[in-house]
Amino acid sequence: MFQINENYLQLGESYLFSTIARKVDQFSAAHPGADIIRLGIGDVTLPLSPAVIEALHRSVDEMGVKESFRGYGPEQGYLFLREAIAGTDFQKRGIDIAPDEIFVSDGSKSDTGNIGDILGEGNVVAITDPVYPVYLDTTLMRIGKTNKIRLLRCSDENGFLPEIPDERVDIVYLCYPNNPTGTVMTREELKKWVMWALEQKSLILFDAAYEAFISDETIPRSIYEIDGANRCAIEFRSFSKNAGFTGLRCSYTVVPQELKGTTANGKEVSLHHLWNRRQSTKFNGTAYIVQRAAEAVYSPQGQQEMREMVGYYMHNAQLIRDGLIEKGWTLFGGENAPYIWLKCPGDMDSWTFFDRLLAECHVVGTPGVGFGSAGEGYFRLTAFNSYEKTVEAIERIKKWEY
Ligand code: MLT
Repeated sequence: MFQINENYLQLGESYLFSTIARKVDQFSAAHPGADIIRLGIGDVTLPLSPAVIEALHRSVDEMGVKESFRGYGPEQGYLFLREAIAGTDFQKRGIDIAPDEIFVSDGSKSDTGNIGDILGEGNVVAITDPVYPVYLDTTLMRIGKTNKIRLLRCSDENGFLPEIPDERVDIVYLCYPNNPTGTVMTREELKKWVMWALEQKSLILFDAAYEAFISDETIPRSIYEIDGANRCAIEFRSFSKNAGFTGLRCSYTVVPQELKGTTANGKEVSLHHLWNRRQSTKFNGTAYIVQRAAEAVYSPQGQQEMREMVGYYMHNAQLIRDGLIEKGWTLFGGENAPYIWLKCPGDMDSWTFFDRLLAECHVVGTPGVGFGSAGEGYFRLTAFNSYEKTVEAIERIKKWEY
């Protein structure tokens, strides 16, 4: 009989957010009248902005006309979008990233998981703990529970920032602003990682999906703000959270032309070339209409609407922070990120806190331990619900006898 990929048997029973959705569904079924407020999965609640909707309508109409209909597009993404991205997200900020270094995709979840396809199985991979579960699960799917995975433990003692590994590591996943802890990395801190990677000839997989939520101008929004990062880092960006594309699906990955890896016998190979080869073989590109919608995010109106959307969620983040501080709870994040990471009161473990918050306040969050064992005793709340629901959730928590 054929065999399966046994690495899958080493994964947790289900993906974290699927487990939570199941638990919440069970609770709702048992308590049909409960008005449940979801501050769990980081899914947006504001509708797409007018500039995006207008671009969608226009491009849908184009698809219905023989002269402007589009079939397969370029696998790397249409040039109109890659130029808009390179110009606005990088060149305007003095960062030298060209349109041909950008690969448009359907989500950072896919790209941060798929990137392993072009990396050798012998690499030692470092992953922070706690972590966005996709990096760990997809690494496990690929290489299994070998001795090739290093967990970089983050705790309140180090402000939930990882230490540079003191042993050989080939690849490290970094996500800043961080999911789940909402913490950010200063320029000095990020510079240390870039210097380390250049020295060690290691690769940084930098997930910047939440960069739009940074308001502190001193915090880097791209790893390429650091000199030399184009020789040691791949960056992932998403339209999901800043422009509300979670249901539309669009993201991009930057693989600089100068970035090289080596074969087992030391021959240098361009990662850009390999990712292009991988994408053109396994991916037929993001839908034309979605790319037109993403392009609209870069118009002056689209940029203004994006800033308003981000501002709305960050106002929610501030409300959550203020409410929890008033309650006397210890918390991190929520200042340059849409996630608030709190220490469960009374030394409760993460799942007990989840169950009690759901049962007693009808509020859903995400147990910190779901992001790794270092997250035990912590809990994540998102700022992505509506203002009204966020106010209500915080009022319930404030009144809660805890
Ligand atoms: C989260 O809640 O961590 C995010 O929504 C997950 C994601 O972006 O895939």
